[in-house]
Amino acid sequence: MCGIVGYIGTQQAAPLLLEGLTRLEHRGYDSAGLAVLGGSGLKVAKQAGRVRALGEGLPKRFSGKVGIGHTRWATHGPANDTNAHPHTDVKGEVGVVHNGIIDNAATLRRQLTDDGIELASDTDTEVIAHLVARSDADTLEGKVRDALASIDGTYGIAVVHTAFPDRIVVARNGSPLIIGVGDKEMHVASDLAALVRYTTTVAHLEDGELATLTATGFTTFRADLTSTNKTAEKVDIDPASYDAGEHDSFMHKEMLEQPEAVERILRGRLDERFGTAHLGGLNMDARETRAIRRVKILGCGSAYYVGQMGASLIEELARIPADAEAASEFRYRDPVIEPDTLYVAVSQSGETIDTLLAVEEIRRKGGRVIGLVNVVGSAIARACDGGIYLHAGPEVAVASTKALTNMFVGFSLLALQLGRVRDLSVADGKRLIAGLTKLPEQIAEIVEREHEFAEIAKRLAQAESLFFIGRVRGFPVAREGAQKFKEISYRHAEAYQTSELKHGPLALISPEVPTVSLVPQDELTDRNVGALHEIAARLGPLVVVTHADVDLGELRADRIDVPRNERELDPILMTIPLQLLAYHAALELGHDIDKPRNLAKSVTVE
Ligand code: F6R
Repeated sequence: MCGIVGYIGTQQAAPLLLEGLTRLEHRGYDSAGLAVLGGSGLKVAKQAGRVRALGEGLPKRFSGKVGIGHTRWATHGPANDTNAHPHTDVKGEVGVVHNGIIDNAATLRRQLTDDGIELASDTDTEVIAHLVARSDADTLEGKVRDALASIDGTYGIAVVHTAFPDRIVVARNGSPLIIGVGDKEMHVASDLAALVRYTTTVAHLEDGELATLTATGFTTFRADLTSTNKTAEKVDIDPASYDAGEHDSFMHKEMLEQPEAVERILRGRLDERFGTAHLGGLNMDARETRAIRRVKILGCGSAYYVGQMGASLIEELARIPADAEAASEFRYRDPVIEPDTLYVAVSQSGETIDTLLAVEEIRRKGGRVIGLVNVVGSAIARACDGGIYLHAGPEVAVASTKALTNMFVGFSLLALQLGRVRDLSVADGKRLIAGLTKLPEQIAEIVEREHEFAEIAKRLAQAESLFFIGRVRGFPVAREGAQKFKEISYRHAEAYQTSELKHGPLALISPEVPTVSLVPQDELTDRNVGALHEIAARLGPLVVVTHADVDLGELRADRIDVPRNERELDPILMTIPLQLLAYHAALELGHDIDKPRNLAKSVTVE
């Protein structure tokens, strides 16, 4: 949430900062701003709205070779020009951009006001600028350190000061910051996405670490100003993976990338001979794996729904009781942490604060946590005892697609490994492996049919309210389908267990309220079809995601057949058309697919 960029070097900073902000805009897009240090001091331009508008409105002489920039997702105060970052002190000498939340901001704001400082904004960040300005340390590093000493909370910050025009000082506590080393120039950003066009030689700051960037290099240190001697390393990343290419949106690109993403997560992890999975990153031997009595999965939003799919897989294949819970609720109920439970944190970004805090709570109480995480080296990945990297590649669209698919596949691998040290037979292990191997091709077959789904989506887009229904394995699919639909189409979409419909929500069924129903060919097909007849009898329009051999009889419905796989793997194949329905409905309604209203990628605030 929110994006930070900084530049110091031989080029004009503003165009580079704007380019970086555009690449970070998915992390917050209600306002944006820049501050550059030039011959005439500190110049700030900031406004509510998108980065493009900021660039278009930038004054002609916005020159300077040192600068910082920010794109915001509002936490303290509305998204207006004044609350946009960078924030400055009273004299306009200090410029600060900040990601995270300062917990004691109210107290600090009161103290500053009592001391006669007139605060310009409603934000927590502004206090940092005043605290830096008030410090009597004689270096910028010392001033930043002094300011941070009064602050409780999380931050990634970048600070410039007119008295120290040869440097940017940055600090991290809970919000990522990455330094990029260029040729006679240095960059800093909260995400690799903003750096890869300029450099792939980077250094990740740790929590509690600060750094000084000059045009010729960087140094890292702790709050007591002792050096941490960090050096930069080359990362193996293709800058093109951060471009939407010929696609109208990153979401579209990322949905179409799913077959390759699944191939990547499977690569080197299937053991066909013994019908099991190789998951060395779990850091558990067979004896420890056997000792697990329960699995508890924690994630937020769509990651939580995929966690529910994962829990079913683990129960079915490994016969270990498993369930998923919203990480955002978990630690508030003072959970009992059991030594023989395997806790699994699942997250695309590896930054979601609720999931991270849940991991920390479990570790504090002595539990074992593994992570299913996409971003390598992210906070959640580092906080876990081991894990499975998802290898989905960078995911930019706010609506998560390919990372979720790989989470499902990651859970399948975990279930396979847990199952095979218990009672899952080699034959069943091999059956699952054959199914997993078929997934990329089957997913490709579904995404190729997107135009077929687009027609259905156009009709769904006209409804103000929709139901998504499924049973057992299909219910988390319905939840994820409804989530994706509401997230980008802004239509009310509610997920229900098909079996629960007549216990209440059937009252809402009418010709105006369509239902998207998941009807796999399984032991519940007849009951599912029965429920569809009840909906049809109330004239509710139906979309049925099903298998070709399911007989819907006389039922009037839009039908989407997905390829059959092993029944345990059906949920992911049923999820893919729901992504495409949501996407095409949002397109029909003219929405900004990658930047849905009120949301942002990576929720780093509680
Ligand atoms: C939905 C979506 C969110 C995320 C959730 C967790 O499309 O993107 O619901 O799934 O915020 O994010 P991560 O996986 O980064 O922890």
